[in-house]
Amino acid sequence: MALNLDAVGKTIGPVRKEYSWKDTVLYALGVGAGFSDLEYCYEKDLKVIPSFGITTMYDFMPQLLSTSNVNLAGILHGEQELIFHQPIPPDGEFITEGRITNFYDKGEKKGALVIGQSETFHSNGQKLFTSIGTVFSRLDGGFGGEDVPKEEIKFPNRDPDFVVEAEPLEDQPLIFRLSGDVFQLHVDKEFAKMAGFEKPIMHGLCTHGFACRALIEKLVPGEPEKVRRLVCRFTKPLYPGVRIKTLIWKTEEGRAFWRVVNSENEEVVIDNGIFEYGEIPKETIRFDDRVAIVTGAGAGLGRVYALELAKRGAKVVVNDLGGARDGAGKGSKGPADKVVDEIKALGGQAVANYDSVATAEGGESIVKTALDAFGTVDVVINNAGILRDKSFLKMEPDNWQAVIDVHLNGAYYVTRPAMAVMKEKGFGRILMTTSAAGLYGNFGQTNYTAAKMGLVGLMNTLKLEGQKYNIKVNTIAPVAASRLTEDILPPDFIDKLKPELVAPMALYLVSEQCPVSGNIYNAGLGCYNRAAMVTGCGAVVGDGKEIPTPEQVVVQWKSVADMKGAKEYQSVNEQIGDVLVAFSKPAERATETTAGFTSVSDVFDAMAAAFVADAAAGVDVVFQYNISEEGGGDWFCVVQDGSCQVEAGVHDKPTCTLKMNSADFLDLMNGKLPAMQAYTSGKLKIEGDIMKSQLIEKLFRM
Ligand code: NAI
Repeated sequence: MALNLDAVGKTIGPVRKEYSWKDTVLYALGVGAGFSDLEYCYEKDLKVIPSFGITTMYDFMPQLLSTSNVNLAGILHGEQELIFHQPIPPDGEFITEGRITNFYDKGEKKGALVIGQSETFHSNGQKLFTSIGTVFSRLDGGFGGEDVPKEEIKFPNRDPDFVVEAEPLEDQPLIFRLSGDVFQLHVDKEFAKMAGFEKPIMHGLCTHGFACRALIEKLVPGEPEKVRRLVCRFTKPLYPGVRIKTLIWKTEEGRAFWRVVNSENEEVVIDNGIFEYGEIPKETIRFDDRVAIVTGAGAGLGRVYALELAKRGAKVVVNDLGGARDGAGKGSKGPADKVVDEIKALGGQAVANYDSVATAEGGESIVKTALDAFGTVDVVINNAGILRDKSFLKMEPDNWQAVIDVHLNGAYYVTRPAMAVMKEKGFGRILMTTSAAGLYGNFGQTNYTAAKMGLVGLMNTLKLEGQKYNIKVNTIAPVAASRLTEDILPPDFIDKLKPELVAPMALYLVSEQCPVSGNIYNAGLGCYNRAAMVTGCGAVVGDGKEIPTPEQVVVQWKSVADMKGAKEYQSVNEQIGDVLVAFSKPAERATETTAGFTSVSDVFDAMAAAFVADAAAGVDVVFQYNISEEGGGDWFCVVQDGSCQVEAGVHDKPTCTLKMNSADFLDLMNGKLPAMQAYTSGKLKIEGDIMKSQLIEKLFRM
C-alpha cells in the first residue's frame, strides 16, 4: 500500500471533543502536576496547561493516518508545534479541522514524513490553537518526493539558564493514557517487549507536558495563558520512573530554546524545542488577498458588507442591477459605481458589476468579473433581493416567479460558478441571506418566504458538498433599515436598525476564522442568535411490522408532537439512522420514570396525590381501569371541577376504560414499558373515548 499523495489539502474533520474541568485536571495529573502547581488541579480558579490542547490529536490523528494511507506498522510522532491564539478554557468543546499539508520523502528504507495541520476552535467560537504535527513513517520512503528541509536549532554555546528537574512516576503512563492515548505500548508489558522495549515506555507527549510545565514555571510563572508557541522534536524513548531535566536557554525576551534529557544517561529525549511567550495579541479578522463577491451591494446591507470587507483588505466585486424595489425597470449602473467609488476613496480595491443575479448568464458574468479583475473568488455573499408582497390568493405567477428568481435562483446562478473556483483552490466561504419572515412566516409574503427557506435547503446540502474542500456555507437572517424594509419596520426603529449592526456577523461567517458550516444566524441591532431546524424524539407508532392506524397516531400524539430533547441533525443520514434505532430498540426510548411501584393498589393509592389540578380546568372525565391477574382489580378515577377522586370498583359511565394485566401495568407505571409500545403490542387495550385517555399523562405526574 502506497501513501495517498492525493490526500494533500483534503479537509479532515471537523472532529468534536467535549471536555470538562475534570479532563483538564486529569491531564495535569498525567503530566506530573500536583499540590506544587495546584492551579492546574483544583477546579476553583482552574488554569489549563496549554499543552492539554494536544489531546485533540487523539481523535484527529486516526483520521489523518487513514487519509494518508501510511503503513501503521512503522509510525512515530516526529515533531509537534502548537501555536496558541487564545488561552484554553477549563471546559467546553474542541472543534478541530485540518488537512495534510505535505508528504516528504527521506528515501527508500529511510522513511517518509506526513505533515498535518489543524485548527482547533472552542465551542464559544474562539480559535484556540493551531497544531502542526509530523508523523515519521519508517516504511513509506522512496516514493520519489522531495526531502524535508532541515531546520535545526542552534542552541547557545553556554550552560542553560534554567534547569528544571522532575521525576515522572513509575505509574505515570497509566494516568496519562486516560487523556486519550491508550496505545498498548505504554501499558502492556508483553506488547512493549514485542516492540523491543524492556517494559512499557512513557508517552512522548507526557514528557512534552512535563516540559511545558517547566517552561511556564521559569518563564511565565503562574501565567499559562501567556504561552504562545511550543515546538519540539521527539528523539528517544524514556522509561517511566526515570528522572528528567528540562534545559532552558532564554535567547531573547519572549523566546527560549529547550530540550529534555534523561538524567541517568544524559540522552536527549526531546530536542529542538522552541518556546515563545508573552501577551497573545488580539486576533483581527482580515480579508487580505481574498476576493469577495457581494450581490445587491449597491445599497442597504450589501453596500455595508462590501465596504466593511474592503476596509479589512478584501478585493470586492460590487454587483448591483440598480433596479426598482420590486425588480422592475431596466436598472442602472449608478448604485454599484457609487459603492465602488466609496471603497476606492477609502483606499480599497473594488470593481463594479451590473448583471442581474436572476439569470444563469448573469451569475456566470458576475464570477467572471471577479476572475478578470482579481484572478479568483474566495467569498460570495448572496444578498440581492426584491419584494413583491401580496396575499397568497392574489399572488399571480409573475410576482411569484420574479421573487424566486432573484433570491433563490440568483443564489444558485452565482454560487455554482463561484464554487467551482473554490473547490479548485480548497477554500471558500458562502453566505446565503434568508429572513425571519421565511424562518417563522409573514403574512403576504408567500413568494419571498418560500424563496428564503429554499436558500436554507440550498445551504443544507452545499455545506455537505463543500466540506472536504474547506468551503463553508452559512445563512444570515438580517434585520436592518433599507429600501426593502422602510414600510415594514416600525418607524421609531428605523434609525436604530443600521445595516452596520448586521455586518459584523456577516463578516465573521465569511472569514477564514469562521468555525461553522450549515448554520443560520439572526442578526440585527447588534443582537445575534442562532436559529435551527430541530427534531423531536417522537414515538414509534405500531410495532414496525403492521401499518399503524390513524387512531394509534391519536393515542401517541403527545409523544409524536413532544419537542423535549429535540435534536439537530447534520444530514438526512443521521436522521434516518435515528429512525432505524427507534425501530430496533423501542424500549430504550421509554420515559424514564422509575416510580418503583411494587403493587397495583400502590399505584391507585398514589394517584390522587399525583393529580395536577392546574391541568384539569374544564375537564370532566372518568377513567376506568380493569387490571387483570394477580394483584389486579377494578379502579376508577373521576376528574371533575378541578378535583380528582380515585375509588376501587366499576363506574357506570366511564369515559374510557383501560385494560391491562397487572405485570404489564406495573411495568408501564415504573417506566419500563412505553405507553405506545404497550398499546401497539396489545398489552394495553383502550375502550371508549381514546382521545380523552391521552389526558391521563397530562393530569397525573406519576
Ligand atoms: P435593498 O433593497 O436595500 O438592497 C437590495 C439590493 O439588491 C438593491 O440595491 C437592488 O438593486 C439589488 N438587486 C435587486 N435585484 C437584483 C438582481 N436581480 N441582481 C442584482 N442586484 C439586485 O435591501 P436590503 O434590505 O439591503 O436587503 C438585502 C438582503 O437582505 C435581501 O436579500 C433581503 O431579502 C434580505 N433581508 C433584509 C432584511 C432587512 O431587514 N433589511 C430582513 C430580512 C432579509
